[in-house]
Amino acid sequence: MSEEVAETARLRLRGWRPGDPEEFLRRLNTPTVMRWLGGVQDEATAHAALDRIDGFQRDFGHTFWIVERKLDGALLGFCGLKRVNAPGGEHLHGEFEIGWRLREDAWGQGIAKEAAIASLDLAFDRFGAPSVVALTVPGNEASQGLMRRLGMRRREDLDFVDTRFANPGELNPTVVHRIDAAEWPDARAAALS
Ligand SMILES: CC(C)(COP(=O)(O)OP(=O)(O)OC[C@H]1O[C@@H](n2cnc3c(N)ncnc32)[C@H](O)[C@@H]1OP(=O)(O)O)[C@@H](O)C(=O)NCCC(=O)NCCS
Repeated sequence: MSEEVAETARLRLRGWRPGDPEEFLRRLNTPTVMRWLGGVQDEATAHAALDRIDGFQRDFGHTFWIVERKLDGALLGFCGLKRVNAPGGEHLHGEFEIGWRLREDAWGQGIAKEAAIASLDLAFDRFGAPSVVALTVPGNEASQGLMRRLGMRRREDLDFVDTRFANPGELNPTVVHRIDAAEWPDARAAALS
C-alpha cells in the first residue's frame, strides 16, 4: 500500500512503506506529540496501533496515510481516514473518521490543514462518505481548532465516554465534530481562505 493517494502544494499523502513505522515512532512517539493520546506508548502498544492502521487499509481501502514533505521526502506524520471503532462510541461505529498526527517541528505551518483538506476531498469524492466525524479529548485545543477551521461542526449530542479511559476529565468524554458531504464545498472554500 505504498502508492501515493494525494498530492497537495507541499505534501504527498501515501501508503506506508517498510521502514516508515520505525521512523514514525522515532519522530512522533514523544511526550509532546502524545500529550492528548495517552502519553508515550511502549513498543507493543505502538505496534498494535500501527497494525490497526494496516487493517483499515486492507478492510476499507483507506487509512491514516503517511504525510510526506515533497521538498525533501521527510516523513511528517499521518493524516487520513479510518472508521469509528472506539469502545463506547457504538452510535458512530462504521462512520468515516478523519485523524491527524504530526511531528512537533511541523506544527503551526498549516500542514495539518493542507493534509486534512486532501483527506476530506478523498472522503467525499473517492470514497463516497455521506459525512465524516473527528474525535478528540476535551483538552486537545489544537485538534479542535483544526476541526473548526475545516468547518466541522461541534456535535455535543454525539459525545460519548470511551471505555478505554477510566478517569473522566482529561481524556473523557470524547468530543465529536462532524461535517456532511453537502457542507464540504463551502467549508473547503472557507478553509482555504
Ligand atoms: C493537531 C495537529 C495535527 C495540528 O497540526 P498543525 O499542522 O500545527 O495545524 P495547522 O497549522 O494546519 O493549523 C490549522 C488550524 O488548526 C487550528 N490550530 C492549530 N494549532 C492550534 C492550537 N495550538 N490551538 C488552537 N487551534 C489550533 C487553527 O485554527 C489553525 O488554523 P489557523 O492557522 O488559520 O489559525 C498537531 O498539533 C498535532 O499533531 N498534535 C499532536 C497529535 C494530536 O493530538 N493529534 C490529534 C489527536 S485527536
